[in-house]
Amino acid sequence: MAVLSVRGLTKKFGGFTAVDQVSFEVEQGEILGLLGPNGSGKSTTFNCIAGMLRPTAGSVRLDGQEIAGLTADAACRKGIGRTFQIPRPFRELSLLENAVLAAHFGAGGAISAAEAEARARDALALAQLPADGQVKGLGAAGLKKLELARALATKPKLLLADESLGGLDQGEMRQAADMLKRIRDQRGITIVWVEHIMGVLLSVVDRVVVLDHGAVIFSGTPGEAQRDERVAEVYLGPPETRAA
Ligand SMILES: Nc1ncnc2c1ncn2[C@@H]1O[C@H](COP(=O)(O)OP(=O)(O)OP(=O)(O)O)[C@@H](O)[C@H]1O
Ligand SMILES: [Mg+2]
Repeated sequence: MAVLSVRGLTKKFGGFTAVDQVSFEVEQGEILGLLGPNGSGKSTTFNCIAGMLRPTAGSVRLDGQEIAGLTADAACRKGIGRTFQIPRPFRELSLLENAVLAAHFGAGGAISAAEAEARARDALALAQLPADGQVKGLGAAGLKKLELARALATKPKLLLADESLGGLDQGEMRQAADMLKRIRDQRGITIVWVEHIMGVLLSVVDRVVVLDHGAVIFSGTPGEAQRDERVAEVYLGPPETRAA
């Protein structure tokens, strides 16, 4: 059974349809790349799955159970961990304190202080951050790692990573991709990875879904995505306008 099954997901803001009848599934242990240009509805899709936004229509099932319309904290307790495109850590708290707070909101409900600290330390180690570090001084790549650590501290079965790797250089993007792969390989966590840049993502994900103007325009393997004319059009423009 699919870990995540999204059917006909639609989100309207007034008369504007940001997410339009989106359907896709993610199998246990898969890394799915959710791609699309700026404004195509990727983050809004995440927000509907993770309870930050209430879908206008459609179904979201986690392990077969309907979760559409749950609040964000309820979705988190069900096992959905997510990162935010724009990191907003508690800057006055240490890395460990940030992760401990996240752990308390996590899967399965109330846990002891000792258990929260253990989850937090494990998550920081997985994200390759020092438990005794501070938020101040973290660059773009470090803040992305802290987002991942906070999401991992909630012990998710499904990780929604809104990376949109702005601000990272080529080497840092590679590292971020390798980290997601490690999280899946070592912990068996199912991952949906949002990106607007195709490059490094295609070397790591098992399958790709591409959005344009809120609708799914492609679903298939990374190899198929690279050969698909509609995907090329969305990313590069119509053939006659592309540079030779
Ligand atoms: N709260 C909101 N109210 C009105 N419109 C919104 C709201 N949130 C998002 N939108 C609009 O919905 C569309 C999809 O936005 P979304 O943030 O999901 O795109 P995205 O694919 O994540 O883009 P990016 O790659 O830039 O992160 C955009 O046109 C955006 O302006
Ligand atoms: Mg976004």
